Amino acid sequence: MTLPKYVAPKPRALMNFFWPTSWMVSDPDRFNALIKEAASLCEGGIHFADNLFTWARNNSLFDDVAFREAWERNVVNDADRAVAWRRYFLATMAYHAVQLPGDFVECGVYAGSGVKTVMDYLGGKAFPKPFWAYDTYDYNPVEGHAFDGQRPGFFEEVEKRFEGYAGVRLVKGLIPDSFAGACPEAIAYLHIDLNNAEAEIAALEHLFDRVVPGGVVILDDYEWANMYRTQKLAEDPWFDARRYRVTPLPTGQGFVIKR
Ligand SMILES: C[S@@+](CC[C@H](N)C(=O)[O-])C[C@H]1O[C@@H](n2cnc3c(N)ncnc32)[C@H](O)[C@@H]1O
Repeated sequence: MTLPKYVAPKPRALMNFFWPTSWMVSDPDRFNALIKEAASLCEGGIHFADNLFTWARNNSLFDDVAFREAWERNVVNDADRAVAWRRYFLATMAYHAVQLPGDFVECGVYAGSGVKTVMDYLGGKAFPKPFWAYDTYDYNPVEGHAFDGQRPGFFEEVEKRFEGYAGVRLVKGLIPDSFAGACPEAIAYLHIDLNNAEAEIAALEHLFDRVVPGGVVILDDYEWANMYRTQKLAEDPWFDARRYRVTPLPTGQGFVIKR
C-alpha cells in the first residue's frame, strides 16, 4: 500500500487561499470585496472559499504536497477548487480508512472529482481497494439540482476519466435500487453526498451496518443550512436511534466513526 509521504512544512511559511466561490450570498461582488478588505486586517494563514473565511490557521491542506497535487489534478470547475478543505477532510479520513478492512464507497459522485482526488492521494491507479461510486450520472433525480453536463452520455465521460483505475466500480442507477447486486460486504469509508434527505437515509439504511468498526461515515451536506437543512433534520434522529452523534464541521460536512 502506498501512503503519501510526510513532508515537514517550512516553520515560517504560511499559505493563504482566497477563492471567491461561496454560496447563498445575495451580492457576490460586494461580499468578496468586503471579505478581501477584512482579510487585509488579519494575520496570515487565510482561507476564504466555500463559505469558510478563517485566518491565523495553519492551512495544513496546502502543506500536504501529495494532497495538493491530487486536488489540483482533479479540479475541473470553480466548485472543485473552492471545496479544497472539504476534499482534505475526505483525504485524511481516507488515509485512516485505507488501513482498515473494507471497501470505499461514495454515494453521489457527479463527475468523480471527490473519488479521484482520494484515489490519487492514496496511490492513484495503484489505489489498493475497490472504490464503489454510485450515481445516476446522466441526470440528477433531485428536482432543480442538475449539475453542468448531466445528460445522456455523461456516464461514459466519467468512465473515461477513470481509465486505468482498476479499483473503481462506477455503478449507474438510482439509490437505493442500485445497491441490489452491486454492494460491498464490508465498508471502511462511506461518503454520502446526495443533496437529498430521503436518498441519504436510504443509503444509510442499506450501508451503515456494513461499515467496519473504526470505519468512517462522512455526510457532505450535514452542517449546511437553509435548503440543505432537511438532511441534518432527518439524519440526527436516525443516528440518535443508534446512539451516535454526528460531529459537525465548519466545512459544512458531518462525520461519524463507526463502533
Ligand atoms: C453534489 S453531487 C456529488 C458531488 C461529488 N460527491 C463530488 O465530490 O464532486 C450530488 C450527486 O448525487 C446524485 N444523486 C442524487 N440523488 C441520487 C439518487 N437517489 N441516486 C443516485 N444518485 C443520486 C446526483 O446525480 C449528483 O450527481
